[in-house]
Amino acid sequence: MQTRGTTASDRILAERARYVSRGMATPKLVVAHAEGARLTDPDGRVFIDFAGGIGCQNTGHRLPAVVEAIKEQADRYLHQCFMVGVYEPYVEVCKRLAELSPCAGDEQRSILVNSGAEAVENAVKIARAATGRPAVVVFDGAFHGRTLLAMTMTSKVKPYKAGFGPFAPEVYRAPAPYPYHGISSDDAIAALEHLFKADVDPSTVACVVLEPVQGEGGFVVMPPDYPARLQALCREHGILYVDDEVQAGVGRTGKMWAIEHYEGVEPDLIVSGKSIGGGLPLAGVTGRAEVMDAVPPGGLGGTFGGNPLSCVAALAVLDTVADDGFLERATELGERLRARLEEIAKRRPEIGEVRGLGPMLALELVERTPDRAQAVVAAAFERGLVLLSCGLYGNVIRLLPPLTIADEDLDEGLAVLEESLAA
Ligand SMILES: Cc1ncc(COP(=O)(O)O)c(C=O)c1O
Repeated sequence: MQTRGTTASDRILAERARYVSRGMATPKLVVAHAEGARLTDPDGRVFIDFAGGIGCQNTGHRLPAVVEAIKEQADRYLHQCFMVGVYEPYVEVCKRLAELSPCAGDEQRSILVNSGAEAVENAVKIARAATGRPAVVVFDGAFHGRTLLAMTMTSKVKPYKAGFGPFAPEVYRAPAPYPYHGISSDDAIAALEHLFKADVDPSTVACVVLEPVQGEGGFVVMPPDYPARLQALCREHGILYVDDEVQAGVGRTGKMWAIEHYEGVEPDLIVSGKSIGGGLPLAGVTGRAEVMDAVPPGGLGGTFGGNPLSCVAALAVLDTVADDGFLERATELGERLRARLEEIAKRRPEIGEVRGLGPMLALELVERTPDRAQAVVAAAFERGLVLLSCGLYGNVIRLLPPLTIADEDLDEGLAVLEESLAA
């Protein structure tokens, strides 16, 4: 048996410090194997995973249908580049996305790319091409990625923006509803109307981009009326509504897309990512044909976007999530999880709010500093639970366990969470 200080994890972490840029922040977790909702480190220590690779494992680590599909595809061909040779799995994913799309319009088309940021950037390109307008409106609390435009659209200075300017032009920001911080739908709509008077002519705005549940922003759920009111304002001004579901989509809220929780809302474009690839890199932009086709041939693309392995993995994921049984179980999981979190909150005065949509749930701590949440995450890690914090103030603890998590793992994870709050 290895003694502390000489474990395989310690060795890898030492080499990580030596060879990997510190700009890539990582915790002390080293993963050697993952299955379902459990991670094992190289020294055999098992962790319950409430992070799921930041929301990439809604269907659980190594979903058998995903692993099988990847192996079969690996025996056929790997990379082709869709701009060189058409392959069926890419077309099939776009077909499934069309069938599942919550967007307006009968005929839906998609493009596939590698990451959420790339998908957001492409959604903006498409919206600009379709409207002939330059401006983009985003919201406080938004996270849209780390590339130049996506970073500009993101709403947290440290660590995402500080030192990385100049930023992309024509990005305007309005408050999003955040009832726990005193911002209602009425306030947010009034602020958007003010933005259109004070800062940007709405006739120059190509699109608004909104997460129905803000992920990095702190699992801030848009109130039931807000997306429909935003949509009405968009339609009044000819602005496209882009629904960023990179974190909230693919079953995370108990529906395929979080926007399905909101009656009467049909976005113009939806951006998907993270869990859609079942652990492989894949993201997409989907919307009605005339918007998606506004870009001339060659205007969209990328070498690896829609890689065949990612596409076959996505087909297995979409089949799994589209199954009613999966979404029912996810909804039940959300109910159990919320009830347990509310019980914990009654015993822990430092918890200000339990919130979320379906099983996409978080705890916001009363104190608006990151210290306490970071201490809870660290204490949980010591006890074998992987947790993440988020929020503008870093004071939100978010839960992103695989939606396939076994009841025992969920219960054990929640017990560790409560212990870590008390630690
Ligand atoms: C809502 C949302 N949009 C976009 C992104 C960017 O995705 P990626 O990290 O794959 O570029 C994220 C990542 O966390 C996200 O949560």
